[in-house]
Amino acid sequence: MLSQISQLPKIELHSHLEGTLKPELVNVIAKRNGIHVDQNLFDSQGEYAWTDFASFLSAYDAASSCLKNGNDYRDITYEYFKSCASENVIYAETFISPDHAADCGITYDDMISGCVQGIDDAERDFGIIGRIIVTCVRHLGPQQGVNVAKQMVDNPHPYIVGFGMGGDENAFTLEDYAPAFNIAAEAGYPCTVHAGELCGPESVWDAINFLPIRRIGHGVNSILDAKLLDELVKRKIHLEICPGSNLSLSIFADWDSHPLPSFISKGISVSLNSDDPPFFHTSVGLEYINSAKHMNISLEKLKNISLMAMDASFADADTKSRLMNKIIEF
Ligand code: ADE
Ligand code: ZN
Repeated sequence: MLSQISQLPKIELHSHLEGTLKPELVNVIAKRNGIHVDQNLFDSQGEYAWTDFASFLSAYDAASSCLKNGNDYRDITYEYFKSCASENVIYAETFISPDHAADCGITYDDMISGCVQGIDDAERDFGIIGRIIVTCVRHLGPQQGVNVAKQMVDNPHPYIVGFGMGGDENAFTLEDYAPAFNIAAEAGYPCTVHAGELCGPESVWDAINFLPIRRIGHGVNSILDAKLLDELVKRKIHLEICPGSNLSLSIFADWDSHPLPSFISKGISVSLNSDDPPFFHTSVGLEYINSAKHMNISLEKLKNISLMAMDASFADADTKSRLMNKIIEF
């Protein structure tokens, strides 16, 4: 069964490109850029050192501060898609954060050109299809969200397929972000937002009531509200589930308490994702394997998760049906 899971064509819808940077790559890129990396960022094993959500976000910011130019974005994009392809991920959407790039002195255009080059190189070398979701950062405020949405809409590229938001769920309200999301949605960009990860089901209600979103990042705390689960089914809202991230951040104490099996039996559309792989010691492949091992998700259900993910992806219709057929043929 494990070898079949490893062969299964997989889809990733929820990863943060800056959060895919492995510690070794941080050191390599920092060195070539002449940037000093505070080694307190790493523990004695060379892994990222953080203890809670706030220190995770700080470590994430510190790791991405090694970036200096578009070529660095090319390299992290290439390395991420390469490792996805090694686990039979055939399609992946990754969140990129223009705010993190700007903090490093990298322009929006340079960031996008770097990512596009990394996607093209990875497709040429490994056959994986990559796409980009531009994200704003919730704790930087609603006006900055509007700025990022406008920048995206004013600079289209066929690989930029959607708009989203990560960051601290406790900052501002989701309604405050309606102007940013409306700019993206009105220009034809489908949207996703982190909600119901740190905060309760009310945050998922806010997301579906105030924002033009098709998907929710995490949304796991929806499990606490039966009415909300019905609403997610009714509105066909997809949940981007990241079990390894949830356990690392202690959102759930153990595999037994993770709601993925309940979401599946309720008929909610879900995908399995890595979020920030090296921070949470995970990968898409591991998420599939751990879901089978620890939550008894069968191969048939995992195949259906790949299908639901591809169907919920923001890819164009041709790519979607071509890749869905690849999964069906498995
Ligand atoms: N940014 C990167 N990872 C995140 C997560 N798990 N939640 C919110 N924002 C993030
Ligand atoms: Zn996330």
